[in-house]
Amino acid sequence: MKLLHVVGTRPNLPKLAPVYRAARARGLQQVVVHTGQHYDHALSADFFRDLDIPSPDVNLAVGSSSHAVQTARIMERLEPVLLEHRPDWLVVYGDVNSTMAASLVASKIGVRVAHVEAGLRSFDREMPEEINRLVTDRLADLLLTPSRDADEQLLREGEPASKIVFVGNVMIDSLFFALPAAEATGFRESLGVGGPYVAVTMHRPSNVDHPERLARIASALQEIAEERDVVFTAHPRTQERLARFGISLGKVRVIDPVTYYQMLDLVRSAHAVITDSGGLQEETTALGVPCFTVRDNTERPITITEGTNQLVKDPTTLLALVRQATRRPAGSGPEGWDGHAGPRVVEALVSRPTPALA
Ligand code: UD1
Repeated sequence: MKLLHVVGTRPNLPKLAPVYRAARARGLQQVVVHTGQHYDHALSADFFRDLDIPSPDVNLAVGSSSHAVQTARIMERLEPVLLEHRPDWLVVYGDVNSTMAASLVASKIGVRVAHVEAGLRSFDREMPEEINRLVTDRLADLLLTPSRDADEQLLREGEPASKIVFVGNVMIDSLFFALPAAEATGFRESLGVGGPYVAVTMHRPSNVDHPERLARIASALQEIAEERDVVFTAHPRTQERLARFGISLGKVRVIDPVTYYQMLDLVRSAHAVITDSGGLQEETTALGVPCFTVRDNTERPITITEGTNQLVKDPTTLLALVRQATRRPAGSGPEGWDGHAGPRVVEALVSRPTPALA
């Protein structure tokens, strides 16, 4: 059996890795295509090394542009690659533009699509990721879900039960895989942060593209930084907006994106995390670290009901929330967040061989 994986952004990589390694262990043929949606070194290259997966076989080098142009470029450049390889499965991850674009191409040329992280919904179509989730799930032949509520959502949307397989959370496989090496980096000590510090990431258009919104978040972070260390690993998009809008962050330590190991080292020891990322909502739940998600909604409600996540609609409340935050013991996450989701994905793929041509 041959798998062709498509990834495009940094958060795709800890999802790909456990599936790739599990398929390698079973001797499957694999091709990894990186679309180049993320192209900065810090947003991609080190992740392959940290996660023990080889560099991509193909890079489509699409770069940044409008959603339509980026999506179109991925489709145009991926089609010949898929036609050349004719895999048994296209495997796509998460909810980024690369996920949706690849699914569209494969489904039109008769290559079956498996979606890892199917069934998540924020019910907010202003998020480009929500559109990507809806389209990808409609097209996918196999819906591999991270939590039981995702199964229920897909059934409500009319998907047949035969297409849905609960596999658990592949991100948590990567987290468990990487934690010992993350601890060994000594990254947190090298930054010189101490005490109950706060780790921050922020990159969603709804938070960083509007000057007033970004200024309000920045002033909340500055308040927190008056009483404890705050480390903000800033996505290139966010750094560009901060500079363009002339917003300062006072005592907040702003640093470039870091490697996967470094990020986990920073997060695992934090007093709290402030973020708008999807993956961090899950990682903090698995680690028992309080997470304040600066959004009106989340496609990962299980991190609230069974984890440490809390939505924050008004950034001015962050200071009080951080003061009250308390860590929980790590490890007792939702069902299937056990470090073995990758092998379950591969089992689901292998047990559905390509039907013989009539
Ligand atoms: C993308 C995903 C988002 C994910 C995020 C994680 C979509 C719709 N969005 O958002 O779901 O959470 O990745 O990082 O797929 N840029 C660089 N260097 C890069 C990549 C981007 O400087 O390597 C800057 C460019 O200014 C670009 C902007 O970031 O215009 C947006 O990049 P894009 O990849 O379109 O979306 P992200 O914001 O990264």
